[in-house]
Amino acid sequence: MQFNEINPSPRLLMCPGPVAAEPRVLRAMATPIIGQFDPEFTAMMNETMEMERRLFQTKNKQTYLVDTTSRGGLETILTGTICPGDKVLVPAYGRFGYLQAEILERCGADITIIEREWGTVFDPQEIEDALKKDSYKAVALVHGETSTSLMQPLEEIGAICERYGALLIVDAVATLGGAEVKVDEWKLSACIAGTQKCISAPSGSALVTYNDAVSEIANKRKRVEKGIRTEADVEGELTRIPSNYLDMAQLEDYWSPRRLNHHTEATSMQYAVHEALRCIMQETLEARFARHKLNDKALTAGLQAMGLTIFGDIDNKMPVVTAINIPEGVNGKDIRGMLLNDFGIEIATSFGPLDGKILRIGNMGYSSQKCNILILLSALEAVMLKNGAKVTTGEAVSAALDVYHAAEK
Ligand SMILES: Cc1ncc(COP(=O)(O)O)c(C=O)c1O
Repeated sequence: MQFNEINPSPRLLMCPGPVAAEPRVLRAMATPIIGQFDPEFTAMMNETMEMERRLFQTKNKQTYLVDTTSRGGLETILTGTICPGDKVLVPAYGRFGYLQAEILERCGADITIIEREWGTVFDPQEIEDALKKDSYKAVALVHGETSTSLMQPLEEIGAICERYGALLIVDAVATLGGAEVKVDEWKLSACIAGTQKCISAPSGSALVTYNDAVSEIANKRKRVEKGIRTEADVEGELTRIPSNYLDMAQLEDYWSPRRLNHHTEATSMQYAVHEALRCIMQETLEARFARHKLNDKALTAGLQAMGLTIFGDIDNKMPVVTAINIPEGVNGKDIRGMLLNDFGIEIATSFGPLDGKILRIGNMGYSSQKCNILILLSALEAVMLKNGAKVTTGEAVSAALDVYHAAEK
C-alpha cells in the first residue's frame, strides 16, 4: 500500500464554506508550538478576544474561541444556557434553524418551532406574535441561513425578545466577517460563528460572544472538575452543564486571568484565528462589508444577464451566498461535477426540499474577489451551455464588469 503525500489539485472554492484561507493564515499556522500558559500565548489569546469583540461589535467580556467547528459553538452556548425543561422558541426558515432545534432537543428543552417556507424570512411581528402566546427563556435564530441563501434582518428582533424577557441566541456562522453583525446594537444575548466561511481560516474553531445574563446562567450551573477544584469553587444552584468539553463556565475561567487548566489548546488554530482577525482589522469592517456587497452585486448581475433566476426573496438575500434555480432539463449534479472536474471550481448543492432544485454560490472572505467572480461566471456559462441549458451567451461577464466599472468611477 502506498501512502501518498497530500497534494490537492488547485481549487477555486466558491461554495458557502469552506472557502480559501487567507495565505497569511496558512503561514501563521506553520508557526512553532508554544505552551498554552506561556505568557506570550496568553497575551495572544487576549488580543484575539479584543479583535473578536470589534468584529462582533460588542463590549461583551465573554468573547472567546471554542476548539470545535461552528456547530460545536452553537452546542456550547445552547447546552450551557438552556436547562432541561426550559422553553425555547425556534423560528426556522431553513436547515440550520432545524439544527438549533435538534441541539436544543438534546438539551432537554421544551421547544416550539415556527416555520417559514424555505426562501423566505420572518416578519418580526410573527416572532412577537409567538412570544405573546407563551413565555420563553430564549429564542434561537439563524442570521444567515446558508441552506437557502436568505438573511433574517435582526435589527428589531432583539428589542422584541427583550420586551418579552427572552434571550436571543443567534447563529451568525455564515455572516460574521462578510456582513454586519451588531451584537450590542441589535441586543443579541449570544452570538456564534465559525472560521471557515467569511473569516477565511480553516474549519476547527468557533467564535462565541455572550452578555452577562447568559454568563450568569452558565455560572449557576458551574461545577469545576474535582481534580482541579479549589475551595473557592462552590457548586452552582442550577443543574450542571452536561458537557465537560463544551462547558461555558469552565471555558470562561480558561480564557480569564485564572487560566483554569481545562483542555489543551489547539495552538495552530489559535494562530490561524488571530491572524485571520488581524487581516479583518487591517482591511476594516467597513471596507470588508463593502467588498462583499460589490462582489455580490456583480455576481447577481452576471447570473441574471445569463438568464438564470435567483432563488428566494431577493430583498433578503445574503450578500455572501447566492442561490440559483437549476434551469429546466438540467441536472445540478452535472453542473457541479463539470465545474469541479474541468475548471477546478467548487460550488454547492442544497438540502432537504431544495436538493436538486438550486445551486448555491459562496462569495465569502478571501474567495470574495473580483477575478473569482468573473472566472466563475465565464466557467458557469460554458458549463450551462454544455449541459443544454438555454442561457444567454456573452452577457454575464460583461454585466459583472459593468458593475465593477461603475463602482470604480
Ligand atoms: C448557518 C450555519 N450554521 C451552522 C453550521 C454548522 O457549521 P460547522 O459545519 O462548522 O459545524 C453551518 C455550516 O455550514 C452554517 O452554514
